[in-house]
Amino acid sequence: MGSSVTPSNPETNGTASPPSYHKSPAKNGDDVPSPLPAVTASDLTISESDASKNRKGGVFPLEVGTRVMCRWRDSKYHPVKVIERRKLYHGSQNDYEYYVHYTEFNRRLDEWVKLEQLDLDSVECAVDEKVEDKVTSLKMTRHQKRKIDETHVEGHEELDAASLREHEEFTKVKNIATIELGKYEIETWYFSPFPPEYNDCVKLYFCEFCLNFMKRKEQLQRHMRKCDLKHPPGDEIYRSGTLSMFEIDGKKNKVYAQNLCYLAKLFLDHKTLYYDVDLFLFYVLCECDDRGCHMVGYFSKEKHSEESYNLACILTLPPYQRKGYGKFLIAFSYELSKKEGKVGTPERPLSDLGLLSYRGYWTRVLLDILKKHKGNISIKELSDMTAIKAEDILSTLQSLELIQYRKGQHVICADPKVLDRHLKAAGRGGLEVDVSKLIWTPYKDQT
Ligand code: ACO
Ligand code: ZN
Repeated sequence: MGSSVTPSNPETNGTASPPSYHKSPAKNGDDVPSPLPAVTASDLTISESDASKNRKGGVFPLEVGTRVMCRWRDSKYHPVKVIERRKLYHGSQNDYEYYVHYTEFNRRLDEWVKLEQLDLDSVECAVDEKVEDKVTSLKMTRHQKRKIDETHVEGHEELDAASLREHEEFTKVKNIATIELGKYEIETWYFSPFPPEYNDCVKLYFCEFCLNFMKRKEQLQRHMRKCDLKHPPGDEIYRSGTLSMFEIDGKKNKVYAQNLCYLAKLFLDHKTLYYDVDLFLFYVLCECDDRGCHMVGYFSKEKHSEESYNLACILTLPPYQRKGYGKFLIAFSYELSKKEGKVGTPERPLSDLGLLSYRGYWTRVLLDILKKHKGNISIKELSDMTAIKAEDILSTLQSLELIQYRKGQHVICADPKVLDRHLKAAGRGGLEVDVSKLIWTPYKDQT
């Protein structure tokens, strides 16, 4: 069995580490990077004197909604909210475990914890959500409000408060804890709506080639003896060294595409799972060896997008993350757009990691051009050269403070020293797409 993979933690987000305290001396605490905080209204601190928060340490089992400090894998205590509870199978009357959300972290770190991980002296009783919302909004500073608004724009702009709550209620507890895929056992990050017959499974076994999933290891072993696929279905449109990209038409390979969506949803939070895979093309990136082509990640793309989206969902499987594959997939999506003669943009909302990856890619591509270019260059020209949508160019350059608004128009101000500093901060370039190895024609309806 290969390595067990846990969600990695962004550490370069420019946000301060979440507050924590040591209840006992930290063990190896320094090795664990801080996860990227997820900013939601419920994360905002309300003063201790607030009447709605009484210490109720003695009441068991703890109510759903209770806020308490919880010992995390870094051995430090962090604030959590109890999302769900369940009786321990062999436990006594009051033996429960609790599904908690670390209020400063992304939902992918939600987990079941035992009572002994909770600091019961810090228990605050469950607060009525509606009252809490009101209190929170009253106590928000202007800075906090702006932070939420920004998150809203970047993260969930198509989800209003009600649908966000509905989404979180429906998907609040991860259903599948781990999956086996090829040589990897992978811990999942989010809920995925597998068919009801899989409701009682904590682990699923995927065939790494056809992506069929099974409840038991023996079923997978039997399947592997029969399955004759050694690579994704569809057309191989790119091969360079050991890397291959396959294009799969969701209409022609419906079951494969649906399986891929179930799998991907385990690592994608705010993405609708499209059952209507007919409307999408899927680009699956593989590392190939003599045993076959092993999926590394993928992106999907609408066959026709009115909003000029050139990518719907993107995923690098956790064992392959932080190796440059994400930037390769992003670069690939723009190479397809260039071949189509269109500009493109990723579908929103972007996840925290999605935004980091796109920002890194946009920064590198744009600053590389600005560094080499002599004389003035407009956003339209940059967009024509890169297939990056003008709005994304503008927001990237604005966030780097390289844009000034003079006499009614945006002007790019690119001091070479400033460019170098930004380029250094933008991280590694990722794996290069060798366009000469791409053999592809844009999708045409075959009616
Ligand atoms: N911590 C800090 N920075 C990170 C992290 C992390 N865990 N992951 C990515 N980044 C940033 C870094 O700047 C990194 O560049 P660097 O390694 O040179 O510093 C850059 O993003 C991209 O790194 P890659 O190695 O090229 O990307 P990766 O293969 O890890 O894939 C991806 C990025 C696809 C976003 C991956 O994290 C993923 O699959 N996440 C889960 C699914 C998801 O959130 N998808 C995006 C949803 S939005 C949409 O689909 C339109
Ligand atoms: Zn198979």
